[in-house]
Amino acid sequence: MKFFLDTANLEEIKRCATFGFLDGVTTNPSLMAREGISDQTARIEEICRVTEGPVSAEVLAVETEGMVAEAKTLADIAPNVAVKIPLTLPGLAATRELSDHGLAVNLTLVFSPLQALLAAKAGAAFVSPFVGRLDDIGADGMDLVESIVAIYNNYAFETEVIVASIRSPQHVLRAALIGADICTVPFKVIETLAAHPLTEKGLAAFLADHRKAADKRHNPSSH
Ligand code: E4P
Repeated sequence: MKFFLDTANLEEIKRCATFGFLDGVTTNPSLMAREGISDQTARIEEICRVTEGPVSAEVLAVETEGMVAEAKTLADIAPNVAVKIPLTLPGLAATRELSDHGLAVNLTLVFSPLQALLAAKAGAAFVSPFVGRLDDIGADGMDLVESIVAIYNNYAFETEVIVASIRSPQHVLRAALIGADICTVPFKVIETLAAHPLTEKGLAAFLADHRKAADKRHNPSSH
């Protein structure tokens, strides 16, 4: 399973790149706004310099023609830009046109298996089901991921499933068990994935035992 970082914060991306498992980045207009950015071009350029993996940048147009034009401008920023387009009928039409021209499209704001089926048929490189937002309204977001993976397997679609709107390590675990291709994870959740109290406790004990043995070697009479 690939790990994307779900942020527009450059420091988080640079730091995550040092961990050795960063496969890409996803942004959206809200994440850009959180960084105080209204023109995303420069930030997308900077992110693409940090990671070679796909970097999703979202269009703001809502009609097909505007989406296609905006997508082409975004794709010109760097070869690893994936254009994020909302899953609407105009968005599907734009996806067909852009994917026919060889552009990677990430169809976003996906909340049903049938939306995901249409995304694959339109030639999207990625589909982004939003699991946390479904959980927020009392549904089970990971059920959606399970259905999408089953449908894509039935027809051998090549569209990669990006589990998005992740809120907890449990989402990441279930995504891996289901066999989703990618999780896009906020930095604060990424940090928790490597943490376990028994790892910390075990490490502290190993270091304390080593210190005791080293003290004994240097001061044999003090024991
Ligand atoms: C990523 O592609 C999505 O835009 C993001 O995961 C949405 O997350 P949120 O529901 O926490 O805003």
